[in-house]
Amino acid sequence: MARSFDVVVIGAGPAGYIAAIRCAQLGLNTACIEKWRAPDGQYALGGTCLNVGCIPSKALLESSEHYERARHKLQVHGVTASGVSFDLKAMLARKDQIVRKMTGGIAGLFKKNRVTWLQGHGRFVSGGTTWKLEVDGGQGSEAVEAAHVVIATGSRARHLPGVPVDNRLICDNEGALDFDSVPQRLGVIGAGVIGLELGSVWRRLGARVHILEALPSFLGAADESVAQEAWKLFTRAGELAIELGVSVGAIGKSKAGVSVAYQTAEGKDATLECDRLIVSIGRTPNTEGLGAEKIGLKIDARGFIEVDKNCRASLPRVYAVGDVVRGPMLAHKGEDEGVMVAEIIAGQHGHVNYDAIPWVMYTMPEIAWVGKTEQQLKAEGIAYRSGRFPFAYNGRALGRDEAEGFIKVLADAATDRILGVHAIGSLASELIAEAVMAMEFGASSEDIARICHAHPSMSEVMREAALAVDKRSLNG
Ligand code: FAD
Ligand code: NAI
Repeated sequence: MARSFDVVVIGAGPAGYIAAIRCAQLGLNTACIEKWRAPDGQYALGGTCLNVGCIPSKALLESSEHYERARHKLQVHGVTASGVSFDLKAMLARKDQIVRKMTGGIAGLFKKNRVTWLQGHGRFVSGGTTWKLEVDGGQGSEAVEAAHVVIATGSRARHLPGVPVDNRLICDNEGALDFDSVPQRLGVIGAGVIGLELGSVWRRLGARVHILEALPSFLGAADESVAQEAWKLFTRAGELAIELGVSVGAIGKSKAGVSVAYQTAEGKDATLECDRLIVSIGRTPNTEGLGAEKIGLKIDARGFIEVDKNCRASLPRVYAVGDVVRGPMLAHKGEDEGVMVAEIIAGQHGHVNYDAIPWVMYTMPEIAWVGKTEQQLKAEGIAYRSGRFPFAYNGRALGRDEAEGFIKVLADAATDRILGVHAIGSLASELIAEAVMAMEFGASSEDIARICHAHPSMSEVMREAALAVDKRSLNG
């Protein structure tokens, strides 16, 4: 007889595993199906984020930043470090160990919360008063039933048509997190988040990085002032070479590596020769093999599962969360959707405030924002006031010798309510949390300006930017 659950979650990335744990916390008998296998062949929880995304990329960003600091950023402090080198194997092993610790941690959380982990590929078989599913695992297949189903099948790297990724010479995020040697010349297609983050990792470790971007503008989703500052800092001599507005043509493997034919923004034919190539041109939702067609689940033209604002799919008691639905492909957005649907299933009032989801790019300096950009406010005809303050006037930033960038606060011209906050600078990823909370609480710029911020701290820049909205910053 098929095992029966109140809720079956398909996928144990951040959206799915959090949904499963919250369901279990709320007293629902919950199972989570996950098919991911770690390099050792064992089933693993955590999805893209923990296995080949957020966590390993941040581990390598941190390690490579330490190397760069030791080589170039200590002298200014009067510290001399000579003969600095790195051991790539050890760096990768550290990253893998963090991944194992985190994915193993979720297995522990599942046990603690009594979530049943069904190992294998999950698909819908049929519907009715309960949903019937099948799990294909290493040991054969198992039928399960569920009153509610949460689809959290995530996304995978989008590839260029006709350009097979072998994750050796031509790589997506999976190969790019695992190079066994530092390429001398690294090509990257796509100057988005992955291109800039992983491009930074390998540049710090010695690669000459050349990024080809199709769009004529840089970081189109960010506030223009932040994108301009980022362009200035990231493309300084010895940093990343980025070409905008290119049209990528044939890509071929040669003895020497990979060659990419492209047309420049000016229409000239050019070729990029590199030892390895990262293709980071966005991600595609995972809906194949889910049995969606068997139950009539609606999927939009781009492959995303259609949902309403509460992540309800087109069929009763079916929800979808995370990268497989509309909205930013960010782990914390998926987690919050997971909590929301669990609470709705349990009869509570789940909610996600899509206007207060932070974005962070873990480059150096970091980029972080929440809410509307200045260009969005202009396009929407919203009257606003803007306050901006540089890290260069902040004692802590100078002490750390990380004083590049600024924070900008945008507030409604009539009500002073904060509409957006944009930061480029060291620790922007942490500083943005204050702005997210302010926006969640409907704060005004004056509210932040009146809060006592510790001195000396980078967070004082947030307060000064808020003061600058009213043209009364105190230290600049
Ligand atoms: P996923 O994490 O993709 O998980 C989906 C899971 O479902 C997978 O484990 C998959 O095996 C499983 N699955 C799929 N279909 C089935 C099936 N039929 N049966 C059983 N299991 C199935 N986001 C951030 O917020 N911050 C970051 O710093 C960040 N860094 C990133 C760095 C990289 C290199 C990449 C690639 C992504 C990064 N992201 C980051 C994005 C983040 O990883 C995703 O937004 C997040 O993982 C989405 O979570 P999810 O649960 O929706 O999907
Ligand atoms: P992305 O959407 O950030 O960037 C892709 C870039 O590739 C875009 O600038 C796009 O214009 C360009 N592009 C698309 N097709 C192209 C082509 N044919 N030739 C040249 N350029 C082309 O996608 P990316 O970097 O692959 O990352 C995927 C997603 O993963 C991100 O959108 C983000 O949601 C998530 N992510 C989040 C991180 C974070 O939060 N810090 C870190 C890494 C990834």
